[in-house]
Amino acid sequence: MLAGSVLSVIAIAATAVNAANLGNPIFQQGQFSQQVYDGYNLLKHFGGNGPYTDGVGHGIDRNPPAQCEVDQVILIHRHGERWPDPSVAEGMIAAYKKILNTNLTLTGSLGFLNSWESFLDTPSLWAEETYSGPYAGLLNGFRRGVDYRARYGHLWNGESIPIFSSGYERIIETARRFGLGFFGYNYTDSAYLNIIPETADQGANSLTPVCYTESSTTTYGLSNFTQFASAASRLNAENKGLNLNASDVYNLMLLAPFELNGRPFSPWTDVFTLDEWVAFGYYNDLGYYYGGGGPGINTSAAIGAVYANATLTLLNQGPSVGKLFFNFCHDTNITPILTALGLFVPDKPMPVNYIKHDSIYKSTNFVPMGGHLVLERLSCNATSEHEAGTYVRTVVNEVVIPREDCQDGPGFSCPLANYTQTLNETLPDFRTACQVPEDYPQYLSFFWDFNQTNALNFQKGPIPYQLGATTWNDQPLGS
Ligand SMILES: *[C@@H]1O[C@H](CO)[C@@H](O)[C@H](O)[C@H]1NC(C)=O
Ligand SMILES: *[C@@H]1O[C@H](CO)[C@@H](O)[C@H](O)[C@H]1NC(C)=O
Ligand SMILES: *[C@@H]1O[C@H](CO)[C@@H](O)[C@H](O)[C@H]1NC(C)=O
Ligand SMILES: *[C@@H]1O[C@H](CO)[C@@H](O)[C@H](O)[C@H]1NC(C)=O
Ligand SMILES: *[C@@H]1O[C@H](CO)[C@@H](O)[C@H](O)[C@H]1NC(C)=O
Ligand SMILES: *[C@@H]1O[C@H](CO)[C@@H](O)[C@H](O)[C@H]1NC(C)=O
Ligand SMILES: *[C@@H]1O[C@H](CO)[C@@H](O)[C@H](O)[C@H]1NC(C)=O
Ligand SMILES: *[C@@H]1O[C@H](CO)[C@@H](O)[C@H](O)[C@H]1NC(C)=O
Ligand SMILES: *[C@@H]1O[C@H](CO)[C@@H](O)[C@H](O)[C@H]1NC(C)=O
Ligand SMILES: *[C@@H]1O[C@H](CO)[C@@H](O)[C@H](O)[C@H]1NC(C)=O
Repeated sequence: MLAGSVLSVIAIAATAVNAANLGNPIFQQGQFSQQVYDGYNLLKHFGGNGPYTDGVGHGIDRNPPAQCEVDQVILIHRHGERWPDPSVAEGMIAAYKKILNTNLTLTGSLGFLNSWESFLDTPSLWAEETYSGPYAGLLNGFRRGVDYRARYGHLWNGESIPIFSSGYERIIETARRFGLGFFGYNYTDSAYLNIIPETADQGANSLTPVCYTESSTTTYGLSNFTQFASAASRLNAENKGLNLNASDVYNLMLLAPFELNGRPFSPWTDVFTLDEWVAFGYYNDLGYYYGGGGPGINTSAAIGAVYANATLTLLNQGPSVGKLFFNFCHDTNITPILTALGLFVPDKPMPVNYIKHDSIYKSTNFVPMGGHLVLERLSCNATSEHEAGTYVRTVVNEVVIPREDCQDGPGFSCPLANYTQTLNETLPDFRTACQVPEDYPQYLSFFWDFNQTNALNFQKGPIPYQLGATTWNDQPLGS
């Protein structure tokens, strides 16, 4: 709209100057600006700790190709923006208190601390969703629901459908807000919220499966990147008497993304240089790659195969078994799925002693707060280029990520038959690779066998202190 009106103003001006010269290359402004910004946004250096951003795409239309319509959608979504978990909050507070306890009147980059108010003074909220500010987690869940209603509402016929959340309070809250956003008004009679406990005895019948064997490990640390220790030296030099070290710096850097999760502004973002933020982001990427479900751990693909295989069955059964599957979990439950699907898998292991800037494994592109993966089943009519048929596309944080090995379908999608064949050949067998105990469920069954109750759709009463894991009926685990 804006671009259109700018263009017409230019056209009118050109007409006024000299109608005969319309199209004169000297006067005409090109259709496209030649300024290409760097795609830089500080949020892209926060790893999985900070506010949601869309992924960085490849210029492929998010909407289905003209001859196709989406006939089934399978979403898996991380909880929204939240306060830090207790152990992380304690590390952040310790580093902050280390500064305060010097009793210095601070100057330089940390000068704002003389009047800053901590956002970590309410421990009862730690681990829970944020509810305030432009990046609030609850807002994220609601907005995603509203957005997906516009995008996929044609697939809902008004009958109740299941929503699946793993048993963790912040995740359940995100699922509920999404439900309100998607179904609107009072969604009691529109959905069945099912809570799948995160306990290990769920075996394969889980949104949060684990291996029952050892996983490979890789050792590296903050000392492998000079930026953390040099930031400490810089801050110590600004205020004689500070004695910050590399791990204090890391903890202080965490304050920026987590403050933004609940507030519009964080002065901590300016305490560190952009180079330091780049190192922070890469360090977080390494954390996922080698420690949080990424391709750098030998059990990740087997864990991710649980969901990849179960959804493969759904895609093959098609809309008759359900058109909308909405699932909610943690970041480190989505990363193994990406690994199993072969998405964002670098050709070579990520280096741990320098920053590989062109790495495709950038965690803010897939698991920022509210990160999500969508499998779209497309039903397409024939064109001169493509046969009529059923195709699959993967969409990660609202950008289409084509498969490298199968992208001949419309909009770089993959024929369902080929997708099925490829996954059948590449997915590890979770049960044997992870040695699932025989008395635990061996398959994911809840997609086909969910509880038809709406009793869990809304939070009842206040959330207990730092509530994390819950049972299937939303009671604190172990209570
Ligand atoms: C596919 O073709 C059928 C029959 O002509 C038509 O009803 C339908 O709208 C088409 N679908 C799309 C997505 O164009
Ligand atoms: C800072 O002030 C407190 C309270 O006056 C005092 O107990 C503490 O020793 C002081 N710390 C330093 C490092 O001077
Ligand atoms: C929502 O709808 C259910 C079922 O129709 C009803 O029992 C409940 O009272 C409604 N909630 C509110 C807040 O009106
Ligand atoms: C369904 O409810 C039963 C209790 O009635 C519970 O044991 C089970 O875990 C629930 N299943 C799901 C998928 O929520
Ligand atoms: C992963 O590596 C660990 C440690 O080397 C090994 O014990 C385990 O069997 C491996 N698991 C898989 C699935 O390769
Ligand atoms: C930094 O200092 C804190 C306490 O002030 C300490 O707990 C931590 O181990 C130190 N980190 C390093 C890398 O030395
Ligand atoms: C990482 O740092 C440790 C010391 O903290 C060192 O022993 C190790 O060699 C470094 N790794 C690499 C790959 O540079
Ligand atoms: C899909 O599989 C068919 C049959 O195996 C094959 O001919 C075709 O090239 C495959 N297409 C893609 C995109 O892999
Ligand atoms: C692949 O197909 C075979 C034969 O139908 C089946 O036994 C096997 O379980 C499938 N593997 C996966 C990962 O679905
Ligand atoms: C994949 O899932 C289907 C049913 O959902 C199951 O029959 C099949 O055995 C599973 N394959 C593996 C390798 O787990």
